Amino acid sequence: MELTRPHDSVAMLLAVLVVSAAVARSGGALCDKSDKAALLAVKSALGNPPALSGWNSTVACCSWEGISCNATTGRVTELTVFALNLSAPVPAAIANLTALQSVNLAYNQLYGSIPAFLGPRALPDLTFLRLDGNRLTGAIPPTATVFDLSLVGNLLTGPLPATFGGASFGDVDLADNQLTGDASMLFGAKKQLNALHLSRNRFRFDLGGVELPEAMDILEIDHNLVYGSIPAAAAARKWLAFDVSYNQLCGPIPQGRYTHRFGAKHFAGNKCLCDRPLPPCT
Ligand SMILES: *[C@@H]1O[C@H](CO)[C@@H](O)[C@H](O)[C@H]1NC(C)=O
Ligand SMILES: *[C@@H]1O[C@H](CO)[C@@H](O)[C@H](O)[C@H]1NC(C)=O
Ligand SMILES: *[C@@H]1O[C@H](CO)[C@@H](O)[C@H](O)[C@H]1NC(C)=O
Ligand SMILES: *[C@@H]1O[C@H](CO)[C@@H](O)[C@H](O)[C@H]1NC(C)=O
Repeated sequence: MELTRPHDSVAMLLAVLVVSAAVARSGGALCDKSDKAALLAVKSALGNPPALSGWNSTVACCSWEGISCNATTGRVTELTVFALNLSAPVPAAIANLTALQSVNLAYNQLYGSIPAFLGPRALPDLTFLRLDGNRLTGAIPPTATVFDLSLVGNLLTGPLPATFGGASFGDVDLADNQLTGDASMLFGAKKQLNALHLSRNRFRFDLGGVELPEAMDILEIDHNLVYGSIPAAAAARKWLAFDVSYNQLCGPIPQGRYTHRFGAKHFAGNKCLCDRPLPPCT
């Protein structure tokens, strides 16, 4: 094949990319044997639901619904069992899928506590964990330091583990639980955190004492017990979402182009916040 004209080589490159993407998605014919056994144990622990009837031996496990593999090793890298209304504890057999990068078990009826293996200590490549919309109880384990972490809409209680202070997070969503205590350890000028959702919990900490992470452009901490003032640095940030309503905050709202995008309801229900979009400070 001649590749003299530039658009030919571009087309060729695109074709190669499309084909390799398809191979990567299907995981080829390879399927790690012990990962397959672990997946069948996961299926069984979830009560062998009809929705997972495709997880069977006539099909290579890398082609099962919700499963992706590394095409070279055949190891399972993604596990998605999403919105199937499955009622069970988080299956222990997931701990044997040690190449997992992404676990999404959102919108089921999973109960019990979050197992300690769902974190980079037991699953070193895990950077994405969604357990939102379940019925999980107990405290968040210290091992759950996953870069993109969503635990929104469960029944979690207790304070954040101290390990969260030293962990690297990109996106943390803990809204709609019954979490308490300090969450200020998630902040820090050097942190990578860009989105933090803590809405509708019982967190209590001094917002005036935190340094906003440089990349942070989403901060939703409404309906907690957060006190102190809004950091002055908030004025200069390009906020995509910002809500501090219904806390115990006080003092002037830092005035900036992006804080001005949000109406009074994003600041309402505090102890003594003032200035635009709320009434002037007296
Ligand atoms: C196995 O999975 C395939 C693909 O989803 C499906 O067509 C087949 O009926 C399944 N076999 C059994 C025994 O469930
Ligand atoms: C697949 O696994 C190999 C060997 O561990 C690794 O070098 C490679 O980066 C992995 N591929 C992807 C897409 O993660
Ligand atoms: C989910 O499962 C519960 C029982 O576990 C059942 O009562 C409910 O109707 C189910 N919801 C849906 C949307 O299937
Ligand atoms: C994990 O794999 C080991 C070895 O194959 C096995 O003995 C063990 O039962 C598995 N654990 C779970 C929870 O399935």
